[in-house]
Amino acid sequence: MPSVVVVGTQWGDEGKGKVVDILAEKADLIVRFQGGNNAGHTLVIGGRKHILHLIPSGIFHPEKTCLIGNGVVVDPAVLLKEIESLETAGLPVPPGKLWVSENAHLIMPYHKAIDLGREAKKGKTRIGTTGRGIGPCYEDKVARRGIKVGELLEPELFGAKLKEILEEKNFYLEKYLGQAPLSYQEIYKTYLRFGERLAPYVTNVSEKLAVARAEGRNILFEGAQGTQLDIDHGTYPFVTSSNTVAGAACSGAGVGPTTIDYVLGICKAYTTRVGEGPFPTELKENTGEHLREKGGEYGSTTGRPRRCGWLDGVILKEAVRLNGLSGLAVTKLDVLSGLSAIEFCEAYEIQGQRWERMPTRVSLFQELKPLLRSFPGWKDQLSRCRSWEDLPPEAQDYLRFIEEFAQVPIVMVSTGPAREEHILLRDPFDL
Ligand code: GDP
Ligand code: IMO
Ligand code: MG
Repeated sequence: MPSVVVVGTQWGDEGKGKVVDILAEKADLIVRFQGGNNAGHTLVIGGRKHILHLIPSGIFHPEKTCLIGNGVVVDPAVLLKEIESLETAGLPVPPGKLWVSENAHLIMPYHKAIDLGREAKKGKTRIGTTGRGIGPCYEDKVARRGIKVGELLEPELFGAKLKEILEEKNFYLEKYLGQAPLSYQEIYKTYLRFGERLAPYVTNVSEKLAVARAEGRNILFEGAQGTQLDIDHGTYPFVTSSNTVAGAACSGAGVGPTTIDYVLGICKAYTTRVGEGPFPTELKENTGEHLREKGGEYGSTTGRPRRCGWLDGVILKEAVRLNGLSGLAVTKLDVLSGLSAIEFCEAYEIQGQRWERMPTRVSLFQELKPLLRSFPGWKDQLSRCRSWEDLPPEAQDYLRFIEEFAQVPIVMVSTGPAREEHILLRDPFDL
């Protein structure tokens, strides 16, 4: 009955969705616990590509239950559209196959308008958000003026809260951001309709998870974003507005820390980042472009080109510490095939000094130099490799080095976007 948490170790887009889909085979319940539809998790199953923004990546397995925990911020329009498009593709998503926490906060139209308006006003100093209203929604949650999914089901209460909040939001939108105000009536009507449609999905997720655990079920927690985008531990202020580290699975789903048995960190064999902010191993020219094209590094949510660079051991070590990683899954190893040399950042140099950890002040990044170690590349394509022995010796050496450096075992290697393109060395559910 283990509970396994999957988290990104970098700046997101490590391939969490693909790994969750594979591990879901042995899980009974799959749970999102933070973030919102800023996430874009891609699965390639039977030659078809699916991108999920809110629904957990276990949804393609029959007989599994997917849950959206209280820590997630839910845009009901996006959620309903996602349910609809899965149903159009022939996959029914009835209540019971999917549950949504009554305590999850709602992304409202003013959250999106503020997110976009602020970024536009900031111009060059923008964060490069996904524009989905994530930050403004979490702000309202913490400021105790948010509206929860459960409150959509009480029209009077919902209307009263909306009226009070909208007055403040419209003032801010018009007077500060110079944006058009939003109509109460329109939001009220649209959201009540959303509420009617979502009502059968709304539940107490924490309770459902406790019952499942007591029955001996396997639970898989699916993180969104990555450790360096964590609001407390990431490259602030160029981060998202939630805690993305493994500990957030507890507060974001309503389970206790003693119920978590295994934390799997997903680590791309190189590094990418979308949006602004520090990126010590970024490759701005040829190799960066090569990785972007070969790895298809364009945002699953916004389509923006992802910045690409070498694997950064400093942030990997941070991820080990901040998440208490039990194991690592290294993804997109195939993208490195054909390079004559592969670089790995062992430490940073700042003002002539060696740094083994991430600076917490963004200003220090301006003087940061990555200290790189070079590894011989390999020519073979990896997508057909199904066991450790199938990997070329150079790839094995590179992986062994990563494992040694991180002091965490590699339990999975992903060698292509498709579900079957992976090597599972040890299943986290086989504790
Ligand atoms: P997530 O947000 O962490 O779930 O990752 P994304 O889905 O945003 O980005 C990962 C991208 O890489 C997707 O397009 C995946 O289909 C793809 N992908 C995942 N694993 C591999 C792999 O091992 N090799 C290759 N070439 N692509 C992969
Ligand atoms: P997945 O789950 C990569 C980035 C945005 C921006 C910053 C803040 O697919 O790995 P936000 O809209 O959250 O306020 O934007 O965070 N970001 C992601 N980058 N993958 C993601 O999710 C991301 N979610 C947010 O690009 O830099
Ligand atoms: Mg993604």
